[in-house]
Amino acid sequence: MTSSQIPDEATGARVLEQRLARFRALREELEVAVLPLATSINGRRFSFQASLHGLELRLGGYVVLEHEGNDRLGQILSLELDQREGTELDLPADGDAPAAVRTQVMIRYARGDGAILEGDGAPVHDATVRPAAAHEIRAWLERCAPRRAALEIGELALAPGVPCALDAGGFDRHTFLCGQSGSGKTYSLGVILEQLLIETGLRIIVLDPNSDFVRLSEVRANIDAAVAERYRDAARGVAVYSGRAHGEQRLRLRLAELSPAAQAALLRLDPIADRDEHAELDALLAEGQPATVEALLASPRPETQRLALRARNLGVERFALWGGSQPGSLLDVIDDPAARCVVVDLGSLDTREEQALAAGAVLGRLWQRREEREPVLIVIDEAHNVCPARPEDRLTALATEHAVRIAAEGRKFGLYLTVSTQRPQKVHENVISQCDNLVLMRLNSAADAAFTQAIFSFVPPSLIEQAASFGLGEALVAGKISPHPALLRFGARVAEEGGSDVPSTWARGRPGPGGSS
Ligand SMILES: Nc1ncnc2c1ncn2[C@@H]1O[C@H](COP(=O)(O)OP(=O)(O)OP(=O)(O)O)[C@@H](O)[C@H]1O
Ligand SMILES: [Mg+2]
Repeated sequence: MTSSQIPDEATGARVLEQRLARFRALREELEVAVLPLATSINGRRFSFQASLHGLELRLGGYVVLEHEGNDRLGQILSLELDQREGTELDLPADGDAPAAVRTQVMIRYARGDGAILEGDGAPVHDATVRPAAAHEIRAWLERCAPRRAALEIGELALAPGVPCALDAGGFDRHTFLCGQSGSGKTYSLGVILEQLLIETGLRIIVLDPNSDFVRLSEVRANIDAAVAERYRDAARGVAVYSGRAHGEQRLRLRLAELSPAAQAALLRLDPIADRDEHAELDALLAEGQPATVEALLASPRPETQRLALRARNLGVERFALWGGSQPGSLLDVIDDPAARCVVVDLGSLDTREEQALAAGAVLGRLWQRREEREPVLIVIDEAHNVCPARPEDRLTALATEHAVRIAAEGRKFGLYLTVSTQRPQKVHENVISQCDNLVLMRLNSAADAAFTQAIFSFVPPSLIEQAASFGLGEALVAGKISPHPALLRFGARVAEEGGSDVPSTWARGRPGPGGSS
């Protein structure tokens, strides 16, 4: 090569740039040409490929597989970038690039698989795959809607405007609602409860540790008049029992109606070590309502005095929960099948012990009356406090025991749980592992997502992974309440929220020197 043939540095760089540009143009041509094709071997699942250019397919989204006039509706359950080496390209000599070059090109494309939601069940090869239009999804949902009440709770996240409805009949299984703090669990649970009140006759009992449902019967302002009217009618059956209320709505319990196990746990009595006091308590209860602690302290019997002292030292006599001379008790309401929706405002009770006692008493009573087979939905918000993985005291342990028993055996007696938490691993595993329905909201923790996946193994992992990127009010629902795993955005509440979040007005910024912020 003579010195005149050796390209100077600038020319060399230009040649390289031109080659790269031609290479990229050719690769783009090839990548754009990747056809959106799907194949199903068994008529139930399909695999597909598509070009990454202008990709309209979405994980969890709906597609139509078109083949010889036979359309199938499908849902994408995995979607990833793939690349394949193999195509050799000849870049001919051109302009400043005097020599032809042969090069390998890596073709990148989208690939994935999905489930056929509606089709003839036959295998299909090389069907054209395209996003389903909103009207196609809506029509399919109408065709496959079960002949039971539909609970319209929002819209499909990937088909805005298409309503997402839960199958009310699916609430005859236990339901797990999970998402990190602030993801919208309580708000969304409220949406579900409102719909259950309007559309079904299912009895509901809510254990409400944060007083979030105390305004469940109050319709918000600016609600469509017809909706408001329907809801008001349904919400007539909502009764809130609170430690702060007076009269009939007061959350009251009586020592005598608690189970012996609850009484012993409350007074921290050990049946062996404290057998005298234990026997004394039994005797007092057998005689009727025990007298005041004052009266018991004045008793000539040392066992009675010891028992009274124990109650005083434990602060039990000061519980706001005791009915005193007022008639009635929360457990009478639990026993009454006509009480349509009972909100037990645990948040209104001052101590953890009272909350655990009330929660345990309700769960225990429902279990005790199981043979009556009255269907009831038992809603436990903040379930990590009511039935934790590791209860820290005897009363919580007792409540947890009841929850575990209901989770394991309650379904056949019509006792259906809906448990909500931020931390799946902090709720007793034997409660969560019995849940068949999942409502999953934003969940950043990979460990929590993996735990949830392990329990709900029928839910596609790729959809559970999506939960890390959900916005407020977005959720994945799966199980009997939603025959296909659906990504949705919860709609607006009709009723007022209770124990409201702390306002974020502090973040608005300070007023500037001129008074503006
Ligand atoms: N779909 C929604 N539309 C409008 N606001 C919402 C929606 N979902 C939740 N919010 C609001 O977001 C805030 C947090 O919601 P929410 O209290 O339901 O969260 P959470 O998951 O129950 O949190 P925590 O675990 O701390 O109890 C509330 O102020 C609620 O009003
Ligand atoms: Mg909450």
